[in-house]
Amino acid sequence: AEGDAAKGEKVFRKCKACHMVGDGAENRVGPVLTGVVGREIAAVEGFDYSDALKELAAADGTWTPEELAAFLEKPKDFAKGTKMSFAGLRKEDERADVIAYLATFGGE
Ligand code: HEM
Repeated sequence: AEGDAAKGEKVFRKCKACHMVGDGAENRVGPVLTGVVGREIAAVEGFDYSDALKELAAADGTWTPEELAAFLEKPKDFAKGTKMSFAGLRKEDERADVIAYLATFGGE
């Protein structure tokens, strides 16, 4: 289902402790998410990714909406060893909405 970017902005509150998105965003605990939809996995300059995310990049390449949804559902199951300390978004609509929100910042 297509996500709702306005609802996704609210879902993104759960991510803001660690991530910035948009103009002037900088890496924090997590990498900048501007343009992440359709971007190469683990590709932000200057961010120290886990081996888990680098291995995912080698295997899967790109953050498609499908790949993002799978990661965000249960980060530690999808990318075993990831240092993203976040339980995940269990609701499918929350995942679709936050991906729609992220897609408003460049990318796909
Ligand atoms: C990585 C999204 C919540 C910390 C990532 C990546 C995405 C993402 C797409 C991969 C980026 C890339 O490949 O460049 C989100 C979203 C969140 C969320 C949408 C909320 C729903 C959080 C929270 C934290 C966090 C709350 C901190 C407690 C990190 C870290 C990484 C990461 C440290 C790097 C992972 C690694 O190298 O293994 N996040 N994140 N994220 N995120 Fe999040």
